[in-house]
Amino acid sequence: MTQSPLRTARDVRVIAHRGASHEHPEHTLAAYRQAIADGADALECDVRLTADGRLVCVHDRRVERTSDGRGTVSAMTYAELAALDFGGWKGEQHRGAQVLLFEDLLKEALTADRRVGLAVETKHPSRAGGRLEAELVRVLKDHGLADGADGRVEVMSFSRTALQRLHRLAPGLPSVYLIERAVRPPRPPFAGHAGPGIDLVRRDPGLVGRLKAKGLRVRVWTVDELDDVELCLRLGVDTIITNRPREIRRYLDAL
Ligand code: G3P
Ligand code: CA
Repeated sequence: MTQSPLRTARDVRVIAHRGASHEHPEHTLAAYRQAIADGADALECDVRLTADGRLVCVHDRRVERTSDGRGTVSAMTYAELAALDFGGWKGEQHRGAQVLLFEDLLKEALTADRRVGLAVETKHPSRAGGRLEAELVRVLKDHGLADGADGRVEVMSFSRTALQRLHRLAPGLPSVYLIERAVRPPRPPFAGHAGPGIDLVRRDPGLVGRLKAKGLRVRVWTVDELDDVELCLRLGVDTIITNRPREIRRYLDAL
């Protein structure tokens, strides 16, 4: 591998995707504690609304892949989810891990021994008719974070509707428009960052430059291979989202 010519590799932010999820079951407290210990600059989490209106950190619509239960998150109460095992699928040593409330993740980040950000992705917001965004902003307000003043919490979505709703409720919150397939850049002001996936960037490296030319900062997900880190550096990517925060942070710091 060639050494990156970029001198500012240390300035590239590293966000832990679902925590240190290469090693630990995703979205669990253990995964996030490991990511904080690993030096992640921020923690990525997906949030969904339970049947009783609680925000939980779960990626999939259903619980089968990451728990020992069956069902749809939005049709289950928090108590039903809390009774499930969210660790055993990743290995016996992780058995006993519970579903994580977004508010508990927030408290974990706020009480870390250094500044750790949160990049919160809303999942399937249109189905929840705005309730998810309202609950997210309510929780952030409770902690004095909804005005976005310190930039610690960012909101992300593939849904333009979700970002527009969040912008109406909390115009100061930094937001990230995630891009899966489309190459049409999002419009500011409600998307200060654009977030293409690494597959898209590999296929169309010029996309990063086109987004930056629009005045957007660029974060790429999910970057676990060093060759892809190098590509991101060459293209001037600002932020990398990875399942392996320790390895990627160390690699960047050593350049
Ligand atoms: O951080 C963005 C990335 O997480 C989007 O994809 O499916 O992992 O939520 P997904
Ligand atoms: Ca996500």
